[in-house]
Amino acid sequence: MPRDCQEAIKNPVFTTIVDSSKELALETYVIGGYVRDFLLGKRSPKDIDIVTVGSGIALAQKVAEKLSGKPRVQVFKNFGTAMVHYQNHELEFVGARKESYSKDSRKPRVEDGNLEDDQRRRDFTINTLAISLNEATYGQLLDPFQGLQDLEKGIIRTPLDPGITYSDDPLRMLRAIRFAAQLDFSIELSSLQAITIHKDRIKIVSRERIVDELHKIILCDRPSTGLKLLHKTELLPLILPELSALEGIEEIEGQRHKDNFWHTLEVLDNIARHTDDLWLRWAALLHDIGKAPTKRFDKKIGWTFHAHEFVGSKMVYKLFKRMRMPLNEKMKFVQKLVLLSSRPIILSQDFVTDSAVRRLIFDAGDQIEALMTLCEADITTKNPVRQKKYLSNFKLVREKMTEVEERDRIRNFQPPISGELIMATFNIPPSKEIGLIKDAIKEAILDGVIPNEYRPAYQFMLDQGRKLGLEPLKNKE
Ligand code: CTP
Repeated sequence: MPRDCQEAIKNPVFTTIVDSSKELALETYVIGGYVRDFLLGKRSPKDIDIVTVGSGIALAQKVAEKLSGKPRVQVFKNFGTAMVHYQNHELEFVGARKESYSKDSRKPRVEDGNLEDDQRRRDFTINTLAISLNEATYGQLLDPFQGLQDLEKGIIRTPLDPGITYSDDPLRMLRAIRFAAQLDFSIELSSLQAITIHKDRIKIVSRERIVDELHKIILCDRPSTGLKLLHKTELLPLILPELSALEGIEEIEGQRHKDNFWHTLEVLDNIARHTDDLWLRWAALLHDIGKAPTKRFDKKIGWTFHAHEFVGSKMVYKLFKRMRMPLNEKMKFVQKLVLLSSRPIILSQDFVTDSAVRRLIFDAGDQIEALMTLCEADITTKNPVRQKKYLSNFKLVREKMTEVEERDRIRNFQPPISGELIMATFNIPPSKEIGLIKDAIKEAILDGVIPNEYRPAYQFMLDQGRKLGLEPLKNKE
């Protein structure tokens, strides 16, 4: 990897920063994620962090004055930072500082410092790397903590004693795990140990920030890397106890069930190969959470998890609420997938009937594709015969789905007979009979007793009405 990083700072915005810094007689560097990602050969990141020995706010104002369109400077006085949005970049300016933290807050006490003080207070050596924007050393890499070496070896290491770095800002425990998962790096042993020791400090981190890191872990190519580290460092039970509760295999009378925690991680990795949809990945992570509270041993049938999908979908709401995640259609999507998560697999183990497929399409609606993706990812059996059988049955389910959908248009099912028509036909006011008749029509269509068409449904309505003692008005028949 290069030590001369002029290539990283060839964007003209850096020329403006260099000129502004010179005018104010400041010493200035680009630092952090921008440098790290450049050295990793990733495409130029959006965020550019600039550190200057002096006032970051004054530098930001000078830079903004010189940039075309004179972008607005957002000043965060309390933090001594300023932000400028320019083209598709977010330029963040900060004065180099020393920080010290108190025990019960993530908010540091700040003093001015030099570049090395500033690098030392950062989270990981790979994030301390700085490139000079000063005339004499322009483009040189400043790396007092061997960040480049760690980047090459794939190691997450803290510049200070890890106990201090993590206890100063416990969010960094999750950041370490997230970076390890994103970059496929390993966390240095003393760091791992320090995270385990300081795990309880995670309680002072806001849930929004925790969720932010969880999202990033879940969106990795192999999310299990991050979840295994959360498990290993004992952070998982503090963040997502519902998942930790799935761990373990019990044996009674020689009968064992699978370890649902490790199974879940496999499902998540499987689904990650097929979708980047964050919420579908969350559904994979949570699809079995109802299994811990519903686990029973029955002498005749062995281990059961009766109604775990229903219980799990209720738990999704509680988990989202606790973690301050959105309680909107995203949550409902995850709930729905958890609720229906066993349906296609049950279906594929059996003889696949048209009516079962029709019901599945009706219940899943627009989420049917997502549900099928989840269920295919759920096949983690190592038994090749069984795996082959499940997958070929799934293929059959998909074929039947296309066939049934083309014929019966069930997906966004609109019943061919409305409540108004039932009232008018039998000359009755709104009443429970209308619901009964509508339901009976829906069931008959889903069961394939009648096709999803007006005439047969109308005839069926008349028959149902008569069964309930209703007579149609003459002219309506
Ligand atoms: N930083 C830190 N401790 C934190 C957060 C950030 O020391 N809890 C420092 C790191 O040096 C980091 C820089 O601030 O590189 C910028 O932080 P941020 O933008 O959150 O992270 P990036 O490293 O840019 O990476 P990403 O955008 O992937 O989060």
